[in-house]
Amino acid sequence: MTNFDLDEKTRLALGHQLVEIINSFYASLPDRAVQMPLEQRSFAPLSDAMPEVGEDPAKVLEEVPAAMIAQGFHVPSANYFGLMNPAPTYVAVLAEALVAALNPQLATQNRSQLAVKIEDETVRWIGERVGWETAFGGTFTSGGNEANMSALALAMTEHFPHVVEDGVSSIGALPVLYASTESHHSLDKSAGLLGIGRRALRRVAVNDRAQMDVAQLRSAIAEDKAAGRKPFCVVATAGTTNSGAVDDMEAIAEVCGQHKLWLHVDGAYGAAAIFSDEHRGLVGGIEGADSITIDPHKWLAMPFAAGVLLTSHPELLERTFGTQTPYMPKAAGSTRIDNFKVSAQWSRRMNSMKLWLTLRVHGRQGYEELIDRQIMLARWMVERLSAGSFFELAVPQVLPIINVRVRLPRAKEEGVAAANSAIVDEVTRSGERWISVTSVNGRSVIRIMVISHLTGERQLENLAAAMESAAKKVLPNVAAAR
Ligand SMILES: Cc1ncc(COP(=O)(O)O)c(C=O)c1O
Repeated sequence: MTNFDLDEKTRLALGHQLVEIINSFYASLPDRAVQMPLEQRSFAPLSDAMPEVGEDPAKVLEEVPAAMIAQGFHVPSANYFGLMNPAPTYVAVLAEALVAALNPQLATQNRSQLAVKIEDETVRWIGERVGWETAFGGTFTSGGNEANMSALALAMTEHFPHVVEDGVSSIGALPVLYASTESHHSLDKSAGLLGIGRRALRRVAVNDRAQMDVAQLRSAIAEDKAAGRKPFCVVATAGTTNSGAVDDMEAIAEVCGQHKLWLHVDGAYGAAAIFSDEHRGLVGGIEGADSITIDPHKWLAMPFAAGVLLTSHPELLERTFGTQTPYMPKAAGSTRIDNFKVSAQWSRRMNSMKLWLTLRVHGRQGYEELIDRQIMLARWMVERLSAGSFFELAVPQVLPIINVRVRLPRAKEEGVAAANSAIVDEVTRSGERWISVTSVNGRSVIRIMVISHLTGERQLENLAAAMESAAKKVLPNVAAAR
């Protein structure tokens, strides 16, 4: 027995102990506070020295989860109406433990066997829901950042085939790409890291539904071409981070077709609507994309990390990421291209198992039900808040993200922004629930998202009541001001 080995009795006892803790945590989620009250939150770092010798594992496994829960910020809570971080399915939590134990190395098929086939099947299932009828490919990623950056790398390879070997200086002019002012900041990072520079990303203005203004896209492309720059890609967002707005992918695809530009759809959140027969039309036109980002760790209720990049040009994956290693010979009889040649990763965790297992246990219809329910709940909340006198809808709600503003018709924008922030501070002070304030197209909004699969009308009603009582408190003159 080596020092890391535990005997069977201890292994089982520790496993049961942890499962009990996770089970109680899950049972508490419908009513769990998201975090501690404001006055108890501390952001000071821990300062213990590294332990020289170990402690009793049962004691450590009792103390650490208890502290993590007591001092944590709980995105799985049904009272978290926050950013795109879900309550994981329980099956996915178990899948994570299984993957950690088996630790398959998905870089090559040689060393992963069934695991890589499961991953391929999961990618195929998602691609089939997109509606692609010709060959497509894809790969799991660490998340949307990696998927978006990989997609832009594919677009570069397609347009500037020498760039993989010779670098961006071989292009001979500035390559440019387009995305709306509401698109995700991972695109800025990607443009910087791909060596074309963040200024190569042209931010196109949005309309009052927070969608890319396609007429402005056309003018920007014409301007860049006239100036000798080289447009190569347009990124349409299916589910913006602020508002859940979905760009008009059909109109953008038409522009891309005319100018021979790569169309990437950043559907990190919203592309999951393809799992619902009733609501897939909300992301209509997605099948016209050359590549798509979809993050199972957002709307598909997976724990971090799980992103997916799909492309209808599968051959470009190897042209972009392919490389050779003498230390990893190909398995005899395997015709599949190894994962390390189709993605930015080498050592690779099996991020697909949790989604594959959830689909095995709950089926596609489980997701359809989740998506349909959350869209209905968001519509319910819009009506609930609009029926009161304090808030008005700021951006039309499409996916389960709601943007409202405090109703202060005579106030300037700074006044509304200050009131929105004060209300959010008041609502989140106790730690019971979480919403946020952001700005859409230059206007301050309060952002509410239905993301935990445990959230229902009850939690939303409590939130609405908390928002109204916060508005009454921070805006004592609100009635007079209107
Ligand atoms: C629209 C969009 N794209 C991409 C990302 C990045 O995804 P990840 O956080 O998985 O890297 C996000 C994250 O919220 C997002 O909202």
